[in-house]
Amino acid sequence: MKINKIITIVIGCLALFALPVNAETPILEELMRKYTFPLIFLSMAGAVFGVGYLYFTGLLPRIIFDTWAWIDERFALHRYVSLAKREYYSVVYTLLPATGRTIPQSHTERYNIKSVWYWYPFYSLGGLSFFAYIILTITGIYLGFYYVPDGEFILDENGHSTSGAYQSMELIMTQVTFGYIIRAVHHWSAHFMVASVFLHMMRVYFVGAYRNPREVNWMLGSLLLMVTIFFGYTGYLLPWDSLGYAAGSIGLEMATSIPAMGPLMAQIVFGGTQLTGDTVTRMYWLHIFVLPLIGTILIIIHMALVWIQGEAEPH
Ligand code: HEM
Repeated sequence: MKINKIITIVIGCLALFALPVNAETPILEELMRKYTFPLIFLSMAGAVFGVGYLYFTGLLPRIIFDTWAWIDERFALHRYVSLAKREYYSVVYTLLPATGRTIPQSHTERYNIKSVWYWYPFYSLGGLSFFAYIILTITGIYLGFYYVPDGEFILDENGHSTSGAYQSMELIMTQVTFGYIIRAVHHWSAHFMVASVFLHMMRVYFVGAYRNPREVNWMLGSLLLMVTIFFGYTGYLLPWDSLGYAAGSIGLEMATSIPAMGPLMAQIVFGGTQLTGDTVTRMYWLHIFVLPLIGTILIIIHMALVWIQGEAEPH
């Protein structure tokens, strides 16, 4: 095919996308609403089938090797890999030399609790909290394409009070393909995460894993619990429906009732001592930027410490 033809087709396609279906909804936006989620799903399924195909035809190792060689030739990554390996083994051998463990004993070791198999599933709760965090991040990114953090009250065409935030939730629930499923997965993962983080903390407490040398991780964990709860609270307010508004009133009352610091706290967290459109903006920024930033950094340090110190498992 001649290059001119290709350019014409590309420009033609772009022009088609730019054509508005109606004044407010350009066709690209319309297509995105309808097909983004099915496309993400299909690409994931395609990736799984593709990798499966390469695996069963025996091509996978060669492709991995060639890709690695291509990158390594340009960035000399093998140097950093061997550096990381050396660090890893130096940590593991310092903490776990061949003669036995050097970290102080855990509760179960100290009291010689031999067989506690029924406890083992509780050791996955930290991992499950992390899993929920990942799901929340992915579904949150998708919701972020459509959610509008506008809490100013307006009247809809029937004269009912509504807001840009609430209308964007309605759009997600009714117009965006699978939007209601993504929202539901986000909603239930948030519940799941709060429960699993709390149970994880109980597990850590009841096996005595918070003790020397893991006090720092316990303290980081306590911060993570607060981050998780604040995530839940700020997210609950975002739809700006009756529930969110009521929760906002309660939170605002709680903040303003703090002696001396009250108004300042309300200003920082709620954007003022009254619930206004600014409250939603503030909650939105906390929910999608401040808390994810703090949470992600804390989770990375928390899990790195588990890796360095090992788990206080019962033996
Ligand atoms: C976002 C929340 C959290 C995540 C993603 C998380 C993740 C993890 C993971 C993956 C582990 C490895 C062992 C396991 O899975 O049980 C772990 C261990 C640990 N976590 Fe968390 N955690 C969170 C919250 C907390 C909280 C709220 C506390 C306590 C206040 C805490 C304290 C600890 C301690 C002390 C350990 C070491 C336990 C041991 O060595 O047996 N974590 N955490």
